[in-house]
Amino acid sequence: MAEKVLVVGSGGREHALAWKLAKSAQVAEVIVAPGNAGTAREHKCRNVSLVPTDFAAIVELVQTQAVSLVVVGPEEPLVLGLVDVLEDVGIAAFGPVAAAAKLEGSKPYCKEFLQRNNIPTAPAQIFSDAVDALAALRRCSTVPVIKAAGLAAGKGVVVAETQAEAAQAVREMLIEGRFGEAGNEILLEERLFGQELSVLAFCDGDTFRVMPVAQDHKRLANGDTGLNTGGMGAFCPTPHATEELLERVADEILAPTLAALARLAHPYKGVLYAGLMLTESGPKVIEFNCRFGDPETQAVLPLLESDLYEVMLACCAGRLPNIDIRWSGAASLAVVMASAGYPTHTTASVPIWGLDAALQQGCRVFHAATAVREQTLVSAGGRVLAVNASAATVRQAAEAVYRGVACVDFEGAQFRDDIGRELAS
Ligand code: AMP
Ligand code: GLY
Repeated sequence: MAEKVLVVGSGGREHALAWKLAKSAQVAEVIVAPGNAGTAREHKCRNVSLVPTDFAAIVELVQTQAVSLVVVGPEEPLVLGLVDVLEDVGIAAFGPVAAAAKLEGSKPYCKEFLQRNNIPTAPAQIFSDAVDALAALRRCSTVPVIKAAGLAAGKGVVVAETQAEAAQAVREMLIEGRFGEAGNEILLEERLFGQELSVLAFCDGDTFRVMPVAQDHKRLANGDTGLNTGGMGAFCPTPHATEELLERVADEILAPTLAALARLAHPYKGVLYAGLMLTESGPKVIEFNCRFGDPETQAVLPLLESDLYEVMLACCAGRLPNIDIRWSGAASLAVVMASAGYPTHTTASVPIWGLDAALQQGCRVFHAATAVREQTLVSAGGRVLAVNASAATVRQAAEAVYRGVACVDFEGAQFRDDIGRELAS
């Protein structure tokens, strides 16, 4: 068969998705909109210059190119209703409709949803008035986490250490408008402690299938220090995801979430990503994302042995129970290399060297913010690329990845060198 797939987005996650979809014998071409320099040179892949929120242009592309499946990578087009628009014109789209994607798009909505359905999460209060929020903050016996209500590209959460820092975050969001409309409403949420896990599940509206559980590393610097980022590296499977834990996550979190969304008449289709904290009293939801994680996807997808195109079609058609999803059973790890200045500002157009040498070390390189200028590969934003490798254990995968990272060179490159290295095996 000669099917065409459209992947919407331009990050490392979308490179990994396009790479995996291109491996399907059923897929003749993967169009990536807008993609990056890595997707441009990937086998069977082609970039098209499009803005992911330009729905009219996406519909036109899909219709003129006879695309059989659209895979939406980032949250913004999902929250704005791209899947609704595509379904209205009869095109299969992998991702939730806007009403279901609201779990990521609105933190107050998500918190109320979790509380209403008795799904374990941290207690939180919601405010739109700075005076009320600051008064509530003074009454808190421990320093809460401050969260902007709307989408803020992963930067709308402040894990403050002191009341003064928390008050500053409240003022920046509610008075100074640091996140624009996304910060017009905020949550003061009890801080949770424990290991943080990324549980991603394929969903078909009714049934779900959990992927190997990953751990991301949100802080910029080694030892979980420095600023929060979109994610600096991930590995899977994590040793914390025991069978017993996975059963609890399925029974207490994933199953009730899908059941509640189905009752609301917008069943969840696509990837549901539960960001969990493994607290002393069990797993609790920190957030839901309505999409694949970045960089989790660059670690998880290389372990998928099944045909991703078939899995996604099954999700779209409510046929997940009919298919077998096979994983290799190995471990996989991805380390992000970011530009100088990330995450506060970014440098671009810095030449990148050494990718072939990294490939020769047995690594994969998933591009994120890369471009080609005058035939030279250059950086084009914050998170530039991720180096990935698979091996029998996470530790071995880490050693393989860091051999690849050592080959890659661009001025001011920032990366963590402790991802997966603290594990016993
Ligand atoms: P979110 O955008 O909600 O994923 O939050 C970004 C990061 O902030 C998470 O990945 C956690 O590391 C941290 N975080 C969010 N909520 C909490 C919480 N209640 N307690 C501790 N850390 C949190
Ligand atoms: N890695 C975190 C995220 O994708 O939101």
